[in-house]
Amino acid sequence: MKILVINGSPKGKASNSLKLTKAFLEGMRDNEIKEISVSGLNLLPCKGCFYCWGKTPGKCIINDDMSKVIEDELWADIIIWSFPLYYYNVPGLLKTLIDRQLPMSLPFMTDREDGIGSGSHPSRYDMSGKRHILISTCGFYSADKNYDSVKSMFDYICGKDNYETIFCGQGELFSIQELRGRTDEYLDIVRKAGSEYISGGITNSTRTKLKELLYSKEVYEQMADASWGIDKEDGGRVDETLSFTRQMAALYNKDSYDGRDRVLEICYTDLGKTYQILLGKDGSKVFTDGSLSATTRIDTPWDVWTSIGRGEIRGDVALAKGMYKVTGDFSLMINWDKYFGRAGGHQKIIMKAAKSQH
Ligand SMILES: Cc1cc2nc3c(=O)[nH]c(=O)nc-3n(C[C@H](O)[C@H](O)[C@H](O)COP(=O)(O)O)c2cc1C
Repeated sequence: MKILVINGSPKGKASNSLKLTKAFLEGMRDNEIKEISVSGLNLLPCKGCFYCWGKTPGKCIINDDMSKVIEDELWADIIIWSFPLYYYNVPGLLKTLIDRQLPMSLPFMTDREDGIGSGSHPSRYDMSGKRHILISTCGFYSADKNYDSVKSMFDYICGKDNYETIFCGQGELFSIQELRGRTDEYLDIVRKAGSEYISGGITNSTRTKLKELLYSKEVYEQMADASWGIDKEDGGRVDETLSFTRQMAALYNKDSYDGRDRVLEICYTDLGKTYQILLGKDGSKVFTDGSLSATTRIDTPWDVWTSIGRGEIRGDVALAKGMYKVTGDFSLMINWDKYFGRAGGHQKIIMKAAKSQH
């Protein structure tokens, strides 16, 4: 199969959506793949002159990269549209590319066979055998109801539901090394979807898994709000260590509450910063004034803790080497993933470290 990936993210290779697309392609295996990154193209907006329909049929008067894009689209058997959601639709750059496809249509008016809209233009080329896949991430907690405008547009372009979709909320998490444990799980499902797609179609069980949230709405939104390093109340800058600790606290799973409040005190020894995370029945809260009494305390250099989080140092090895220290109630450490849910970084590593110490 000849596959064309149109990467519509202004971030080019750093695109979250492209990570899903790459996983999907890995699942499809052994295909001939061409990738276009819209951010790297010399692409000007359509002038609306209709020369491509009248005076120069099939040919745009603008001399830029679009003629090559059209060539690639005609070459492909499958076109993967990989893009972030921007204002409930595709980013402007990708919309420019879509507008510039005008030379691919004939000017005449026809009715649509799928009954949607109030008219259509026949294709200049035989596009009937081409398959389209939309792969996209967005920033809200869920993709649900967020893509109505995208689907409506592609219904007109490709025919009603005549394309495959993978839409995923919480997209920025795919760039966070500390959360790779969870995002890699999702990418595995996307990989499976790719393999199923090429051998007949994505199964319902895979579709259901693709719709699962990476994290609950509450956890994600708390984590996302903390990630900006800006205080929600007064808009001021928040210290990096506090922002990080708040994001860590956001992962707390309040369903794990067993009737006992816990206080995790974490001291970044080299920076002299200490925070307390209250883990209660209604969620977690970070305290900066030291007013609580700690049930578990972690003393760690900042770099050690963040490196463990990113999976660069093994937590059990670091603990055995005395690179950080844990005192107080160890049950919190042993049951870390019960309290802090599915993620990479500290979760599994600390639990492993705690087990190896006992
Ligand atoms: C200008 C702009 C508009 C956005 N609009 C939306 C939106 O309407 N809905 C949403 O859920 N996320 C929105 N986002 C968030 C992106 O969709 C999200 O960060 C996505 O994961 C980025 O994907 P990428 O890394 O592939 O570019 C917007 C981001 C930007 C920069």
